Amino acid sequence: MASSLKGRNLLTLRDYTGEEIHYLLTYAEELKEKKKQGMIGNTLQGKNIVLLFEKTSTRTRCAFEVAAYDEGANVTFLSNSQMGKKESLRDTANVLGRFYDGIEFRGFKQETVEALAKYSGVPVWNGLTDLYHPTQALADFLTMKEHIDKPFEEMKLVYSGDGRNNVANSLLIASAKLGTDFVALSPPELMPDPILVEEMQKIAKQTGSTLTLTSDITEAMLHADAVYTDIWVSMGEEAQIEERIKLLAPYQVNGDMLAKAKNEHIIFLHCLPAFHDLNTEFGQMVYEKFGLKEMEVTDEVFYSSCSKVFDQAENRMHTIKAVMCATL
Ligand code: CP
Ligand code: NVA
Repeated sequence: MASSLKGRNLLTLRDYTGEEIHYLLTYAEELKEKKKQGMIGNTLQGKNIVLLFEKTSTRTRCAFEVAAYDEGANVTFLSNSQMGKKESLRDTANVLGRFYDGIEFRGFKQETVEALAKYSGVPVWNGLTDLYHPTQALADFLTMKEHIDKPFEEMKLVYSGDGRNNVANSLLIASAKLGTDFVALSPPELMPDPILVEEMQKIAKQTGSTLTLTSDITEAMLHADAVYTDIWVSMGEEAQIEERIKLLAPYQVNGDMLAKAKNEHIIFLHCLPAFHDLNTEFGQMVYEKFGLKEMEVTDEVFYSSCSKVFDQAENRMHTIKAVMCATL
């Protein structure tokens, strides 16, 4: 398995088999344990990695940097390149491929990360585009593995909120591939793309997973093992906040929603950052304009014992390390 991942890109989990995803998660567990024991690795010794960012980030950038340093690589953070301004994407990819052994990209278009992979000649990792967030889903499934005492094939994951964003898409794909029952709990206007759903339904049939799209909270939540939400407006969509509040307010993760699972072991997940209080500029703006103190999750649930969001954030680093070590 290790050799089949060498030289590969991670542009979307659509390109990975369930077996390959399992392998990356097991590898991440090993690397996490190694780090806990204080052992330093050298798998990426002598490698140079560039982190190309069009959008803001805390976790993804830091996860790539720390993971690279832990395994001996050098890192360049690039957020003001010539790419697309005075130099084409193709030429930029060519140049970066001459300097670096691997490229991480976070930005808007999925086509950009695909073009970087096509023209650079080195492994490219998607650190979030408008369509997918594959490294996030790896961290999410590692967190589920750690906190839910069942195999993936027996778990039920409910994603409540904007069902067609990058995080929802990647969770849908990972669930289908790993055999997990996935529920997109969303208003009809924000359901996942039917083409993606149809493609994943074929895979789900083979793995035994079920993929359900519903707007009914009671039906969705019954016997859920994990409930997941994300912000109501993704990066670049902030102007749509008023419309999203109208559509998504009923899907806020709160105590009433959790109770509908009838599962005292249910866990709460969120990719972060989250709007659960007024301690952010955006949260303040929404409060002043629309009177909401919390958005996709209540402060109570966010800091409750069922919330595993900070384990999930930590797992970004261990899973990204596994991805880089396996593909370089
Ligand atoms: N979850 C996530 O991708 O976080 P950042 O935007 O901080 O990288
Ligand atoms: N859907 C969110 C995820 C942030 C990590 C966004 O794209 O902004």
